[in-house]
Amino acid sequence: MSAKRDLISIEDFSKEEIEEIFSIADEMDEIIKNKGRSDLCYGKIMATLFFEPSTRTRFSFETAMQRLGGGIISAPDMSVTSTKKGETLPDTIKTVSQYADIIVIRHPRDGAAKVAADCAEIPVINAGDGKHEHPTQTLLDLYTLKKERGSIKGLTVALCGDLKYARSIHSLAYGLARLGADIVCIPAKGHQIPYYVSQKLARKHGTKLRRTFASDFKLLEGRIDAIYMTPSREFSEQLDLPIASADDSSLTQYISEYFTRKMTELVHGFDAFYITRIQRERLVKSDKQIKPKEDYPIVDDAFLKDKKFENTLIMHPLPRVDELSPKIDGDSRAIYFKQVRYGVPVRMALLTYLLGLRKAPKPQGTSGQKIPSRKMLSSREVGYISCNNANCILNDENEFLTPEFKYPHREKNKGFHALIYSCAYCDTEIHARYVGNFGTKKYTKVHPSFEKKISDWRNRDHLVVFVSEGEAENAGFNPYRAGKGRLVLNERQIQAGIVAIAYQIEHTEDLRDVVFIGIEKEGTAIAERLRLLVKARKNMQMPVAKLDVYSYRDDRSFIDEHQETKIPFSVDNKIVVLVDDLIATGRTARAALDAMIDQRIGRPRGVKLFVIIDVANAREFPIHPNSSIKKIQLGKNQIVKLGLKEMDGADEVRILSTRGTS
Ligand code: NCD
Repeated sequence: MSAKRDLISIEDFSKEEIEEIFSIADEMDEIIKNKGRSDLCYGKIMATLFFEPSTRTRFSFETAMQRLGGGIISAPDMSVTSTKKGETLPDTIKTVSQYADIIVIRHPRDGAAKVAADCAEIPVINAGDGKHEHPTQTLLDLYTLKKERGSIKGLTVALCGDLKYARSIHSLAYGLARLGADIVCIPAKGHQIPYYVSQKLARKHGTKLRRTFASDFKLLEGRIDAIYMTPSREFSEQLDLPIASADDSSLTQYISEYFTRKMTELVHGFDAFYITRIQRERLVKSDKQIKPKEDYPIVDDAFLKDKKFENTLIMHPLPRVDELSPKIDGDSRAIYFKQVRYGVPVRMALLTYLLGLRKAPKPQGTSGQKIPSRKMLSSREVGYISCNNANCILNDENEFLTPEFKYPHREKNKGFHALIYSCAYCDTEIHARYVGNFGTKKYTKVHPSFEKKISDWRNRDHLVVFVSEGEAENAGFNPYRAGKGRLVLNERQIQAGIVAIAYQIEHTEDLRDVVFIGIEKEGTAIAERLRLLVKARKNMQMPVAKLDVYSYRDDRSFIDEHQETKIPFSVDNKIVVLVDDLIATGRTARAALDAMIDQRIGRPRGVKLFVIIDVANAREFPIHPNSSIKKIQLGKNQIVKLGLKEMDGADEVRILSTRGTS
């Protein structure tokens, strides 16, 4: 018998398999319409283990099995089972798998379905695990869309509401991306799509997120956050463009047509608008308390009058609370009860597919899925990291479970130095910023120039990773010191340099027009020193704003929950003194200019950039500081380390070598 297949994440199914399920679902729909039942599953037993309430998912699975002639074992509520006596999830699963042929599980913990799949020798279907995934809902959502629109490729689908906790949204986003649809995210305030989801979309499906403005959605204004749009595919794939044979002019034309089409869609409409309820039962203390009707987007008859939604299908996984008005139930665009109905043929198809009753399902990873062959991570490497998602099953039943992490990837951005692992149960990402060598018991900060070293250590099973310096120290590792390095600027030189910059500002600008913007965090500290110096000498009060440019970096193809800093004053007709500790590639300064313009705080008369160190040979953008204290050149294996009194206890700039770390 071939290895069993489970459905834990929608990512477990290739595009071809999803299409196969759809074609079986068409046949099942005929069976329902004509005879009402078949005996395809005669003699098979399905166990439904629902540790959370359900109406549609459970009843449609049970209807599906009944129509296929199979039997069902279930409990009205898991609190009447031995779970109540303290039986663990693995033991419950091992028991039930002695009776049934297939298990359908819903659980409040992220990753619980994987635990079940790992313990059972029979196929396991995830019917919703915490806020993680709900792949069978996605199968019926995609099937509904396909039935209504013929194909999913190229459709534009808006995902609206609680994108943070709605598991149906996470699975749907992956499913849409896999089948080539474009996704527009319209999150309710504070309920953006999780960082790991957008990261995965970017990494696995090449989605790129683009900002549009919340004001494009007048009716939802005040209830939603900024909107992000994702053209999900590269132009060539979207347009089926044979890129190798396309000459430059036809490529330019295709690209411009693509954008015209996308812009028209934004102005004129979406193929589908998928709204979800606020997942109140999953909110935690730190979440914004949402007032129904005031803070949450609502789809009602007024909403549907907008020209933009003239031909838009309205979808919802249900149950609804206040976000979807029953007044529109009779509208031909409202297809959520059709979605409900399709749950049965789709789940019939899935059951027959996973039970191998039509033909044996393809073994995982062999059916067109691009699952890279990855070596197992040694338990030593990840022994000191843990999943920090409080709702992960690992943090509930961890005595019985072994943590597992997926092979790390490097974030493309050179400025962000970490190895990124993801929890194999709930997908949450863990950013390990420190690496240690088990042989020498030394640790150091991850740096792009260590790439080769890290893989050497891994090959010798010497690699250990840590999230923080404290954890490395607690584990008995000592910091690796690359010697003291070469001193470039001492405390006196740095302070004298800052005084010289203050002097230059006083003598070249009308101080009434000057505002300081410090790039977090070092730049803000230096800007504050400049402000105090000018104030002491000229008795002028000038404002200083801090600016976090993280969300404006050009290498981010995803959106996360990073808080943006708002500049609290207008820069209209002002001279903006932008301050940072160091300029190397010029990307941070570019992002700062972008952030300032994006915040719409006026048109400055001029922007000047002041830094302590100018790494002159590292520039990738045509941006140069107006003044720096010192210009340096860095060699291939050199890094610059800049310390400031405010955060490091001393002012100092050194050049360190990254050679010989082991
Ligand atoms: C969803 C769920 O349970 O995740 N419902 C469903 O399965 N149809 C959506 C929800 O509860 O809001």
